[in-house]
Amino acid sequence: MTQALTIGREVTLRHHPRDMIGPDDLAIVSRAVPPLRAGELLVRNRWFRISISTRLMADPGAQVVEGIPFPPLHPGDTLADGAIGEVVASAPDSAIAVGSLVLHPYGWRDWAVVAASQCTSIPAPDDAAAFEPAVYLGHGWTAYAALTHGTQVRAGDTVFVTSGAGAIGAMAGQIARRLGATRIVGSTGSADKAEWMTAELGYDAVVRRDRGDLAAQLASAAPDGVDLVVDMIGGDQLAVAAAQTRTGARLVLLGALGAELDATRATLAAPVLLDSFQLILRDVTIRGYSACADEAAGGFADWLRWQAGAALHHAVSRVEGLDQAPAALHDACAGRLRGVVIVAL
Ligand SMILES: NC(=O)c1ccc[n+]([C@@H]2O[C@H](COP(=O)([O-])OP(=O)(O)OC[C@H]3O[C@@H](n4cnc5c(N)ncnc54)[C@H](OP(=O)(O)O)[C@@H]3O)[C@@H](O)[C@H]2O)c1
Repeated sequence: MTQALTIGREVTLRHHPRDMIGPDDLAIVSRAVPPLRAGELLVRNRWFRISISTRLMADPGAQVVEGIPFPPLHPGDTLADGAIGEVVASAPDSAIAVGSLVLHPYGWRDWAVVAASQCTSIPAPDDAAAFEPAVYLGHGWTAYAALTHGTQVRAGDTVFVTSGAGAIGAMAGQIARRLGATRIVGSTGSADKAEWMTAELGYDAVVRRDRGDLAAQLASAAPDGVDLVVDMIGGDQLAVAAAQTRTGARLVLLGALGAELDATRATLAAPVLLDSFQLILRDVTIRGYSACADEAAGGFADWLRWQAGAALHHAVSRVEGLDQAPAALHDACAGRLRGVVIVAL
């Protein structure tokens, strides 16, 4: 198979960031797309996701970590994240046809050469204009997996979602409600996001990390205590949530944003002080959970079926064009964006 020379843009790491990652740490370069080898596809990317975990992986001390689906980034490396694109060329032995839409892990570039084995085919949408890339690129899947595999929602639960306006959090509150929870409280860092969370995402109450005394705010938002905590932040928010659990409560820990988005340096160390005696007396279960293994085991197909009938509001910050992506990564890490951040190419 012959392939015409294609030049595409990619976003690379210029150098390791000093504190918060931003456009100065990244470069947009043009490169020739390599020829296809056996089993590979040439994909024209249409959308890709921006994840705050990119900051952690751009740290000079970043290492491969089981459970984190991002490789460490070195200067010159092209950034990577989930993407959806159209197959425009296919090596003869690959099972995916030209014209197919595929989900794959090589965003942050116009064109991707991907092994067909790393691609998931997406059924051609009946109405292309109504296609919602966030169903595939968003973290509704992560939230759904956490609430069905990582823990169980019980009818009548009061749920507390930390980073409730974030990529996972914006979906977790809605999904918990549909799974039977009756009171949903979320945390955020600003008044405008708090308003959006109650108006658009269905939260009953919101506590704000920018307003101090989180314990008093949570006690007022959930006066009878919390049955289920979906934690993306760790630190003080996890400690406050654990202290206000009811008997039989469950805590599912998905992330440690307080450490990942620390103002000085991203870190994987997220120590927290919990009153273990109280957790024992109240029969509280704490589970750390990564959706990666359940995704590989076929759980993603369950999510696609379930969400089709769930009438969820897919919370998305949409960004137009690759050249806007470096600034969007900075804004996402600074807490200026909502839901999942998706770049349209
Ligand atoms: N376990 C899994 O399977 C899995 C999968 C994917 C991601 N993750 C992890 O889950 C966590 C959440 O991921 P996400 O993509 O949904 O992130 P996210 O919630 O969209 O993260 C961005 C938000 O973090 C908040 N934030 C910013 N600075 C902060 C700080 N210093 N302390 C606390 N919060 C701060 C801001 O929200 P507010 O202004 O609203 O507070 C910001 O909008 C991350 O740690 C990620 O690595 C886990």
